[in-house]
Amino acid sequence: MKKTAAVLFVAGLLVACSPKFMTPMQTDVDRMTAKFPGYTLADLQKGMSLYQSKCGACHDPKAPRSRDEAGWREIVPHMVEKSNKKGKPISPEEADLILRYVITMGKH
Ligand code: HEC
Repeated sequence: MKKTAAVLFVAGLLVACSPKFMTPMQTDVDRMTAKFPGYTLADLQKGMSLYQSKCGACHDPKAPRSRDEAGWREIVPHMVEKSNKKGKPISPEEADLILRYVITMGKH
């Protein structure tokens, strides 16, 4: 019984620290405020949850670190259009939060 609990605990830690989706932190926001004035941790967290729910509708959402800013700026508008046609609707405000999230947590 104790062993199971320990295994579950370690598994939980591994999921929490999964390299695909790093937990957004205030330090991530601080790195970006020059680029995104007024950006907050709540915006970043909202972008993450939108990314996971909307951009995961057709394929596994790609790790933010798989692309840099230029790469995300290129593909996100294209994918937002795809989602609006065949997936879940994404408003321009939501698209912006998603883009800021993947840029912030993306490759630097
Ligand atoms: C309606 C289905 C659909 C939705 C919703 C969708 N995608 Fe895609 N995505 C695709 C398809 C199909 C491809 C592969 C072909 C292409 O690039 O058009 C793809 C490819 C990608 C790729 C390139 C994959 C690679 O390995 O190079 C990225 C990155 C991506 N999507 C990100 C996103 C993001 C970000 C969102 C949310 C804004 C999103 N997708 C929403 C269908 C979707």
